[in-house]
Amino acid sequence: MKQLVKIHNLQDFEHAARKHLPRPLFGYIANSAEEGYTHAANRSAFDAYGLMPRAMVDVSSIALETELLGTRYQAPFGIAPMGISALSAYRGDIVQARAAAGEGLPMILSGSSLIPLEEVLEVGETDWFQAYLPGTLEEIEALLARVEKAGYRHLVITVDYAVPPNSDNNRKSGFSSPLRPSLRLAFDGLTRPRWLFGTFLRTLYRHGLPHFENNYATRGIAVMSKNVTRDFSGRRHLQWEYLERVRA
Ligand SMILES: Cc1cc2nc3c(=O)[nH]c(=O)nc-3n(C[C@H](O)[C@H](O)[C@H](O)COP(=O)(O)O)c2cc1C
Repeated sequence: MKQLVKIHNLQDFEHAARKHLPRPLFGYIANSAEEGYTHAANRSAFDAYGLMPRAMVDVSSIALETELLGTRYQAPFGIAPMGISALSAYRGDIVQARAAAGEGLPMILSGSSLIPLEEVLEVGETDWFQAYLPGTLEEIEALLARVEKAGYRHLVITVDYAVPPNSDNNRKSGFSSPLRPSLRLAFDGLTRPRWLFGTFLRTLYRHGLPHFENNYATRGIAVMSKNVTRDFSGRRHLQWEYLERVRA
């Protein structure tokens, strides 16, 4: 692909993404908590590893293939669930599912994605779904019934979301969920015309205003709204017993 000619490593992606995406969206993706201590610690933990090449070993037929839950993948990593991807790229979740399938890697559809999980599965390229558990057993069961009916075979439950994170960094970049329409947001969009026309307006024109489609059994709120807020309050009581019910 033409756009990838200048991309050689992850840092290059970051540079390109900063130029391509409106500031709030880039800020959402390139975010870490608070002052970034945990982010830095996670990065430096990898420094403890060194790679020791063994010379004169027959490497003419090596493979990174690995098996995970009964499926063979081409490498021991994949695409983690990321919310709102269909706002950073046109039909982003489907793009990622397709790219992962093409490379023989797993891709996990986020529960905070903007394309109905049924539509992503219809394209048929991932059967991994990540759920945030709603607050009541009825809502959990309804969501899981939907996921199962759609045909997903692998379920990932995210458990670190009892309360929403501190949003200082999002405030700085202008990101909120949902996004608040404002002059600044309009300006951020207008200064990224390739994103504006290629992703945002194209999505609006073909599919309407994106909504959080997969947090519950039913459609959630729009990704952009003047005064609606996402309600995360109902999850604080969740404990391991809920996971037992999910497994059952
Ligand atoms: C932009 C972005 C969006 C994310 N959205 C979700 C999400 O919707 N659900 C979820 O469980 N994790 C989400 N995560 C967390 C990732 O799935 C992953 O666990 C985390 O980034 C750690 O993996 P890494 O070190 O490879 O980045 C998100 C991460 C990023 C960077």
